[in-house]
Amino acid sequence: MDSIFIKGGRRMEGVLDISSAKNSLLPLLAASIMCDGYVQIKKCTRYTDVNIMLQILDDLGCKVEANDDEVQIDCTSIHNYYIKEEYSRKVRSSIFMLGSLLTKFKRAKVAYPGGCNIGSRPIDLHLKGLRALNVKIEEKHGYIYCDGSNMRSSIIHLDFPSVGATENVMMASVLLKGTTMICNCACEPEIEDLQDFLNSMGAKVAGAGTSTIIIEGVASLHSTSYTPYPDRIITGTYMIACAMTKGNIRLNGVVPEHNFALIGKLKQAGCRIRIGTNWLEIMSNKQLKSIPKIETQTYPGFPTDLQNQILVLQTISRGVSVVTENLFETRFKIVNELVKMGADVTIHDKSAIVRGVPQLYGATVTASDLRGGAGLVIAGLVAKDYTTINDVEHIDRGYKAIEEDLCRLNVDIKRIHNNL
Ligand code: EPZ
Repeated sequence: MDSIFIKGGRRMEGVLDISSAKNSLLPLLAASIMCDGYVQIKKCTRYTDVNIMLQILDDLGCKVEANDDEVQIDCTSIHNYYIKEEYSRKVRSSIFMLGSLLTKFKRAKVAYPGGCNIGSRPIDLHLKGLRALNVKIEEKHGYIYCDGSNMRSSIIHLDFPSVGATENVMMASVLLKGTTMICNCACEPEIEDLQDFLNSMGAKVAGAGTSTIIIEGVASLHSTSYTPYPDRIITGTYMIACAMTKGNIRLNGVVPEHNFALIGKLKQAGCRIRIGTNWLEIMSNKQLKSIPKIETQTYPGFPTDLQNQILVLQTISRGVSVVTENLFETRFKIVNELVKMGADVTIHDKSAIVRGVPQLYGATVTASDLRGGAGLVIAGLVAKDYTTINDVEHIDRGYKAIEEDLCRLNVDIKRIHNNL
């Protein structure tokens, strides 16, 4: 596995364009198989999770053509409703292929999904939502078998506004006669992105971004060309990194509103932030204050996917911060690695108590999940001397060459290819 080597101490400066949202691309690729034609996805950033989804589509029989960051998928040749365990266990997004496979074939066979090791990652809400559409589901030998021969539209109430479960039910409903309503659904921007994508293929979906989505079934879905939203988590990661280094950067091709929760926290810490229609600038030229309380919530609350990154910012802020993780049970793995770098963090139940220290120190640390790995990179930007981060494949799942992005923003960073 590759490593990243950082010489800390530089101020981040410069301008960067933000790539497409990983958590939009994954459901969009899953949904594309429902189309009776061709799907072109522009700015299809090739995160490793995206590459795995493209492999899954290819294995199902789709013809996938890619040049640079544009992907063309011919869905007319798809012939398989079975996702092999070797692919399924690599990504969380294999689970919401159930919905699109059921719409395409009225059947699905998918092995249990993988994804970041940040908690138990149950799928009960996915299965409960599909059962509400009268899908017969059997779980055996590590596979989920779905029979959708008698699927029908319905009213579904999600016990929790799960992003993936919302996406699964949306995809399973688009061709069902009548009206399907999803209550207490997720409101994340990626849900709106999926709604816009489905509607660009002729679906009739409304309400995404609110807690109730209404789907009028249509007869079929036609070809489309679509550009996804920018990645709000990458945007937030680089904003926090800039704040850490007392830098001054401009990020282009963003939707500032998608980061309002973070913007509020960074202003509270003492950063200056300017926003335009599709850009934002962040400046920080002084010691930042600790943010007393940070609690992860579903959108539009503070996103769990930026929890590790803002926790790192608190390690060198002035004061004490309590960071509480409400969505995933084991999303503090980064703490042990930060303590190696001189951070003062203790865990109490779902909260990390972070006491700011004057300085972090370079060390050799190991990424154990995607956003924790990104947090270690941020820590390395300000740590004294050198930091080596091992197992950066975790980071590559959701950042396309993070070292190249940061290099463009004046960071002294490089990737070491450990071809073991
Ligand atoms: C999506 O995961 C994202 N992944 C995650 O991003 C993100 O952290 C998460 O949403 C929350 O925003 C993708 O979109 C591929 P959930 P998902 O279902 O759909 C519980 C990243 O770093 N739950 O909204 O799996 C679950 O345990 C990744 O990019 C059930 O109990 O998240 C968690 O506590 C990490 N039963 C909460 O809901 C279920 O059936 C939120 O999960 C499903 C979920």
